Amino acid sequence: MGSDSGRGEMSPDALERLLRERVDAHRAVARKGKLATYIPALGDADPLHLGVAVCLADGRIVAAGDADVPFTLQSVSKVPALLLALMDRGPDTVFQHVGMEPTSEPFDSILKLELRDPAKPLNPMINAGAIAVTWLVAGETAEARIARLLSFVRRLCGNDAVAINERVYRSEWETGDRNRALAYFMRAIGALPREADVEEVLAVYFQQCAIEVTCADLARMGAVLAFDGVAPWSGEQLVPREVVRIARALMVTCGLYNESGRFAVQAGIPAKSGVSGAVLAAVPKRVGLGVYGPALDDKGNSVAGLSLLTDLAGVLRLSLF
Ligand code: DON
Repeated sequence: MGSDSGRGEMSPDALERLLRERVDAHRAVARKGKLATYIPALGDADPLHLGVAVCLADGRIVAAGDADVPFTLQSVSKVPALLLALMDRGPDTVFQHVGMEPTSEPFDSILKLELRDPAKPLNPMINAGAIAVTWLVAGETAEARIARLLSFVRRLCGNDAVAINERVYRSEWETGDRNRALAYFMRAIGALPREADVEEVLAVYFQQCAIEVTCADLARMGAVLAFDGVAPWSGEQLVPREVVRIARALMVTCGLYNESGRFAVQAGIPAKSGVSGAVLAAVPKRVGLGVYGPALDDKGNSVAGLSLLTDLAGVLRLSLF
């Protein structure tokens, strides 16, 4: 772990003190944000919660704040889904169905879908792209696909107890008109094949979004990405290095939607957010981070979470650039 004097080692105790201090300093920022209530179950969160966990190169977790509060992955699930689709189908097939370009539109926008030729979503980190990626995850049935995804997420989190929050899943299923509109529109324009069962694809997508974790789980997932696919707690290669490289690149350019550029300039860390207030971050060869702060900015990203991460990136010199 780097210290403010450069890339020297910071002891886990010193890191914990720093995390505690910085979490306390950023809690007030949460007051500037709002909970995502378009998925009604997410409206029950405490908007002032803020937690962070860091997974070190030896797999140890250092955490502070409300790091034990469970939350759902939401759009953070777009990263494990992409990793699995790339492992199942290979990059050539995946990128026939989804692009690699950043967006200046909100995460759930339909606008660009009609304008692009050939018809495909801009990137795998926005909702349309993620729905296409979910369809690419191998499995004969919706049940088989979500079971594979869940077991993959458990391995990335080093935690067999990770499960789907059924209440959040139902809540989104009942209110997910916008994603339904996106998915049916995609099938109409050929961005999803005619034979795709849209309701089944959506069932998998909504369930992957409702996978429940804590900051430590997210930090371990970040560490797998940081250490080129190897789980630092076991030494096992969980994801091929080349697949991780693709995911990290898309996290930098597209992970925070139309706020990705600002975060790249100010923090410089590959990251992926979710409307639950989750933020996954991976600093290559250094650490994985998991942050939770459910109050969101107007782009749908954790407002206190991003300010905390930006601060930590400065203090610990985590920027890639
Ligand atoms: O599909 C949705 O709208 C949500 N399940 C996930 C969106 C999301 O997390 C966007 N992130 N900031």
